Amino acid sequence: MNIPLNRHSPTPIYLQIRNYLSRLIQSGKMLSGQKLPSIRVLSTSIQVNKLTVIEAYSLLEADGLIHARQGSGYFVNPKTTVTSGLTLRSNFSPSQEVIISQGGGSFFEQYTTSIQARRQQNIIEFSSGFPSTSISDNLQRVAKRALAKAGDTLFREDFPQGQLLLRQLIAQMLIQQGLEVSSEEIIITSGSQQALSLAMQYYLRKDDWVIVETPTYHGALGILKNLQAKVIGIPMTAEGINLELLEQYLKSHRPKLIYTISTLHNPTGITTSLAHRQALITLARQYECFILEDNAYEGLKFQPVPPPIKALDRYDLVTYISTFSKTLMPGLRIGYMVVTGEHHQPLVKQKLLNDLHVSTVSQVIVSEFLASGHYRRHLNRLRISNLQSRNVMLQALESYFPDAIAWTIPKGGLFLWTHLPNHLPIQTICSEALSHNVLIASGAAFFLGQGYPAMRLNFCHTPEDIEHGIKIIGRLIKNYLTPSFISVGLSSQEVSVSSMR
Ligand SMILES: Cc1ncc(COP(=O)(O)O)c(C=O)c1O
Repeated sequence: MNIPLNRHSPTPIYLQIRNYLSRLIQSGKMLSGQKLPSIRVLSTSIQVNKLTVIEAYSLLEADGLIHARQGSGYFVNPKTTVTSGLTLRSNFSPSQEVIISQGGGSFFEQYTTSIQARRQQNIIEFSSGFPSTSISDNLQRVAKRALAKAGDTLFREDFPQGQLLLRQLIAQMLIQQGLEVSSEEIIITSGSQQALSLAMQYYLRKDDWVIVETPTYHGALGILKNLQAKVIGIPMTAEGINLELLEQYLKSHRPKLIYTISTLHNPTGITTSLAHRQALITLARQYECFILEDNAYEGLKFQPVPPPIKALDRYDLVTYISTFSKTLMPGLRIGYMVVTGEHHQPLVKQKLLNDLHVSTVSQVIVSEFLASGHYRRHLNRLRISNLQSRNVMLQALESYFPDAIAWTIPKGGLFLWTHLPNHLPIQTICSEALSHNVLIASGAAFFLGQGYPAMRLNFCHTPEDIEHGIKIIGRLIKNYLTPSFISVGLSSQEVSVSSMR
């Protein structure tokens, strides 16, 4: 294979190789299942160091475009588009209503109900925000090795910002995602929930205005309520937060902070474009507002996504947070934040006051996963399995849901978002579904106020469970749809969408 390289370009050689191969794969010139040249062959033919090729292949793997097979080399992943025979029908176009409130209410109830449900047998749990529990079989081996290597350090207390090795490994991973950071700018936290809490406490005082996307992660709404912040919910369009409305409220209310989930948004699954990210940070700068960027789901992307908003930040406006809960194990409680400039030290101090530091046992286990390459391989397996599950769910929605229901088509993550006609009795449908052993949570928890009837559906289940569960929900919904009812529900939809496909 001949890859044209510009050895005088400011773009490093490994990135040029990655970009070239990425284009070949995405344009279909390299086919799903096709073998890539071996590291030795490619490095000889284009006259670069083997490490350069390894670096490029690692990036393509992280992008979800290729995977390694032990002893056989690298292969192109199955196509990320939905398989032929399945019509894509994303018509997500919610009403554009701004909601102002003092935080959301039901995070505690939602969370505990979900934990209880996961302990029950024979229930199909579509409401979960976490991957299925069939986690890496290597866990015990990796954990054992990590603990043996750590030795005495496990018996000592640690720095509040977390272990240097873990911060260095996270920094390397973030550089591959397009975010150039140093280990000195990273703080390890007890899950990203703690990172959210620390950052919101740092940036906000009682009665300060804060902007969130609506719908949004209910755990963030819970923290804002606790802080007694005044919350403005700007609606999501299919492209991300409505930027026109955002500017209007930045101008009129002068909020201190914007909370955004730019990639694989919770709960809608939407990923914003680079242009949207640039527009958002330009507005934040213009109206002197900080951004809290929550990137909990990027590890689960099926295809490349733009660099985080933090990568565009020249003025220390953005605090970036993420977690290993969605990709590895929520129980490890390892999250992290990237905080630059004058904000870094106060947040390290705040972390110390909160819980001294994160469990050293969890930190060494995650470090071992990252350093050994197990994490990357595990992500690749997860992505392939989640993509297949997403496609099965899309197929089931096409088959069993009535036309009046809209849904998003996420490019990764764990769930998609369905938008139901207004006035549909969503709580009743949830209760009825539970009597059939199907757990769905009303989307109401993700709204500041009333919102619209919706469901977030986790697609990480077996094809049989997805088919069975979606069929039941579809039947229940149809019981409540009459022609007159549908016309009332659809009249409030204003934004037309085509780019979700
Ligand atoms: C968007 C988002 N941020 C943060 C969290 C918190 O996760 P954890 O504290 O387990 O890292 C979640 C969990 O569901 C989430 O969905």
